[in-house]
Amino acid sequence: MSNVFQQDYQISRKDRQKLHQHNSFLIWFTGLSGSGKSTLANIIEHELHQLKISTYTLDGDNIRLGINKSLGFSEEDRKENIRRIAEISKLFVDAGIVTLAAFVSPYIKDRDSIKAILGAENVIEIYVNTSLAECERRDVKGLYKKARLGEIKNMTGLTAPYQAPINPDLEIITDNVTIEQSAKNILDFILTKLTLKNE
Ligand code: ADX
Repeated sequence: MSNVFQQDYQISRKDRQKLHQHNSFLIWFTGLSGSGKSTLANIIEHELHQLKISTYTLDGDNIRLGINKSLGFSEEDRKENIRRIAEISKLFVDAGIVTLAAFVSPYIKDRDSIKAILGAENVIEIYVNTSLAECERRDVKGLYKKARLGEIKNMTGLTAPYQAPINPDLEIITDNVTIEQSAKNILDFILTKLTLKNE
């Protein structure tokens, strides 16, 4: 048995939400590399910030340059990547922050674990559905080209699987839609989940 014990603090999540004057939850973006997750999270965070909502964004590329720099792209490492981000997101949500997370998160079981860690009612799963052909056409980071040349192993969509969400809270099909329209659809949905607490 562990010798570590849960400690309780006087200030609760509810108290912090009151201070921020809104509820807090996690908005999780999943999709292929280059699907537009970070771009959309960036626009949404900006819009929420304009509305005086306290936000923070966790981004796959940034996190992998810092706290998760020891992790690669094997199935096990991705699982640990997502587990840590879910735990970090839980702290942010507990702090009263509307948290955005943009991660490929290709495995259904890993995405299910996010909901298990935070409680499903605290998570909005958004599937940024951009076809592999379109991601590869954009190839903003040149990763697909490298993967085709065999220079990158386990490339999601090519040599590693992407398990699409079966029942996401929101699915955004970005092929043939402007980024502004996609962002608006997401924001409209998020605003239905946001509760302002003034008293
Ligand atoms: S995840 O699968 O563990 O959720 P994460 O979102 O953190 O991935 O990181 C994905 C980012 O790492 C991509 O946007 C891309 O820039 C980069 N990357 C490097 N190698 C790979 C790879 N083999 N598969 C997917 N993304 C990769």
